[in-house]
Amino acid sequence: MPAPNIDTIVSLAKRRGFVFPSSEVYGGLGSAWDYGPLGVELCNNVKQSWWRWLVYERDDIEGIDSSIILNRLVWKYSGHEATFHDPLVDCRECKSRMRADKLEGYFPEGAESGSPSFDANARLRRGLVKCAQCGSTNLTDERYFNMMFRTTLGAAADEDDPAALAYLRPETAQGIFINFLNVQTTMRRKIPFGIAQVGKSFRNEITPGNFILRTREFEQMEMEYFVKPDAEHLKLVDEWVALYLEWFKGLGIDAENLTLHEVPENELAHYSKRTVDIMYRYFPERPEEERQWEELMGIAYRTDFDLRSHSSKPTDAEGNRVNPDSTEDLSYFDDLAKQRFYPHVIEPAAGVNRTVLAVLMDAYSEKTNDKGETRVILKLSPQLAPIKAAILPLAKNKPEIVGMAKAIKRSLQPVLRAVYDDTGGIGKLYARQDEIGTPFCVTVDHQSLEDEAVTVRDRDTWEQERIKVSDLAEHLQKRLKPYPNPAAELM
Ligand code: GAP
Repeated sequence: MPAPNIDTIVSLAKRRGFVFPSSEVYGGLGSAWDYGPLGVELCNNVKQSWWRWLVYERDDIEGIDSSIILNRLVWKYSGHEATFHDPLVDCRECKSRMRADKLEGYFPEGAESGSPSFDANARLRRGLVKCAQCGSTNLTDERYFNMMFRTTLGAAADEDDPAALAYLRPETAQGIFINFLNVQTTMRRKIPFGIAQVGKSFRNEITPGNFILRTREFEQMEMEYFVKPDAEHLKLVDEWVALYLEWFKGLGIDAENLTLHEVPENELAHYSKRTVDIMYRYFPERPEEERQWEELMGIAYRTDFDLRSHSSKPTDAEGNRVNPDSTEDLSYFDDLAKQRFYPHVIEPAAGVNRTVLAVLMDAYSEKTNDKGETRVILKLSPQLAPIKAAILPLAKNKPEIVGMAKAIKRSLQPVLRAVYDDTGGIGKLYARQDEIGTPFCVTVDHQSLEDEAVTVRDRDTWEQERIKVSDLAEHLQKRLKPYPNPAAELM
């Protein structure tokens, strides 16, 4: 039973230290969230799982970490300055400002935005589009709003000086493209190979919301996979979709809550020839099945658009350089085929925060104990659980028991994330650990002092086992470690 809605996770996340509303002491900052002690561990575990899977377990992918602020020209030639915008409208009644293409009535029934007869402003003026806040159809015409966050570089910079203008990156991908040759030559890579990067991206979203699903600052896990111009690009998209579906399932997400969305041609980003989105059921409470889904990640065929447009050599029909600012040619020489070309790119782009939300929603469950009390159990996959084992003394006023429990915690810490907790009765302590997804509770009792053994309780079954302290680390590691990575078999 996954979480019935996002609100259930918002409340659990705040109550148990996963995610807090940001800047709360000043009334908050709509759409910004801070990750607490458990949230930061969960995010790190998601990112590590991804990095291990792509960069360590495969032999054809390198990692990098590029700057967040890049030369402004990167965003000029990537096309983001000209096209990275969303349509914006204001409601004349309630004064809300909204993203137009997400409103009811914006698109004609059954028709798509790109059809030649589609005229958004005509529809807005005819009162066919509804305000998401108050339902009024008294909306302004749409206008385009570039979503890149602007900043100025240098201490003496005048805020309006175009020479000082810079942007916070809206995707991590461009940092990969501009480093393509650096990575390829230093690591002596031959095509096909990929470059992965995880890091923050920023978008001045018009209507952020739904907790960590859509925020203005978020983290992406992106990988650009470089292939030959004559590779089977559309098939490769399908292959990466299949791999990622398995990776998400390996994180504990039920296949029932994942679906695919082939992005219609006229909604593709300017660089894409094909994009398939993997969608997660973030809104199970909505009665209409088609409204339950939202994008978890996208897998795009970006052609050679980016490498070509950042390169110095390509010319237009008149023989003029398309990019007169670039000092490098990002083409690749294939010494077997004796050919030079711009590699084509398959890009799986996933969001850390959306993955974390999907994982939390899918892990949520409730269980009733023999006293009839309902408890929340977060059935996180052990690889993702923020804490792997909680060491609990049965009697906190018994120094020998406390001493033994603390020593066990210290001995486990080098091999797995363990905590010591004596802030409540054992029933309460178990319940707290269940609620944050800790797979194992280790209880030290009076008998432990005699037999050097402890009770290991399983989060999901509540079954208990007596284990010798000397065998404990190995026992827990065995039960934690072989978490399946079904995607590995497909590689
Ligand atoms: N480089 C391609 C690219 O950035 P995208 O579909 O715009 O593609 C990839 O973004 C992923 O980044 C999305 O599928 C989503 O998981 C995440 N993402 C994008 N915008 C986001 C936002 N405002 N808040 C949270 N995550 C976001």
